[in-house]
Amino acid sequence: MEELGIGIVGCGYWGINHVRVFTELPESRVVAVCDLRQERLREVGQRFAQVAVTTDLDELIGRQDVDAVVICTAAASHYDIASICLQAGKHVLLEKPITTNVADAEDLIRQADSRGVKLMVGHTFLYNAGIRKVKTYTSQGELGRIYYLYSQRTNLGPIREDVSVMWDLATHDVSIFNYLLDSTPEWVSAVGARVLGNGREDVGFISLGYPDGVIGHAHTSWADPHKVREVVVVGSDKRIVFNDLSPQEQVRVFEKGVKPVPREAPSYGEYHFLLRNGDIIIPRIESSEPLKNECKHFLECIIDDRIPLTDGENGLEVVRVMEAVDRSLERKGAPVEVSYEGSL
Ligand SMILES: NC(=O)c1ccc[n+]([C@@H]2O[C@H](COP(=O)([O-])OP(=O)(O)OC[C@H]3O[C@@H](n4cnc5c(N)ncnc54)[C@H](O)[C@@H]3O)[C@@H](O)[C@H]2O)c1
Repeated sequence: MEELGIGIVGCGYWGINHVRVFTELPESRVVAVCDLRQERLREVGQRFAQVAVTTDLDELIGRQDVDAVVICTAAASHYDIASICLQAGKHVLLEKPITTNVADAEDLIRQADSRGVKLMVGHTFLYNAGIRKVKTYTSQGELGRIYYLYSQRTNLGPIREDVSVMWDLATHDVSIFNYLLDSTPEWVSAVGARVLGNGREDVGFISLGYPDGVIGHAHTSWADPHKVREVVVVGSDKRIVFNDLSPQEQVRVFEKGVKPVPREAPSYGEYHFLLRNGDIIIPRIESSEPLKNECKHFLECIIDDRIPLTDGENGLEVVRVMEAVDRSLERKGAPVEVSYEGSL
């Protein structure tokens, strides 16, 4: 089987990782990189001598040996660049968020379908072995009844110039919550603050209402000196913590919980609460690089003609939630229904 030729558009902080990973994978070869900044192209040239570099997107797209394009530019530019690549018949791996509005995401999905090419979104955490481990617990019902989930993604920057902290960071949490619960939120309520005064929220608190009364909550900030990357799931039998900053103990399972138990007659109809207090388990997780898993999955989907786990539809679901978040923000946190009515 011949290697797939990869072109990478946008080679800043994150894009250079794609260059490295696709260079390392045996199924692919990075043939060209496009960036508007010469200094980024110089770094690519120094580290990856075999890769052609250009500031001209048309030059990259025009290459016959580019089968697929990876787009790692700022979110606001995703739609325009992805459209050009899809129209040229290239498979596309687009960084998150897929687009900055629902209509554009729907249009990209249509374009990919009509061209018969793959469209995948870089919701990296769904390829993270720790999150995958948490999923084995949630999907096998090991937590008992899931009561709620919450996440914290705080740090000092990096501050984006095109989207709010919610569109930048909470998109990770929404994709993780949807994945762990196998569902999508029915409503959201969001408040935020522009503490740095740059015209977009840099602090955000989002509540998400999932089916069966399960609540999610995502706290994101670019203005918090305490770096946290954590997702917690609380169930009736267990509590699970995913801490992305703790490679040795990435997942911890607290075998503790509380649940209501019906009282026997004569107090029939009333409940008492059963407390469970067990061990704390640190499951063994085979270490692997999430981005490498993601890129490998993209290549396999092209080679085997499979639907990516994070396909365009999956990216669109997250964007639908984020549009509702923006509407709730405008209304100071009033609950807003998430619309899944599509024109697709
Ligand atoms: N999945 C993840 O975990 C993850 C992590 C970080 C960033 N990201 C995403 O990756 C994307 C890029 O983020 P970043 O931190 O690397 O940003 P960045 O600003 O460091 O890099 C973006 C690069 O794109 C280049 N660029 C902009 N417009 C271009 C164009 N029209 N043609 C060619 N190059 C162009 C810029 O010159 C810059 O070098 C964003 O969508 C971000 O959300 C994803």
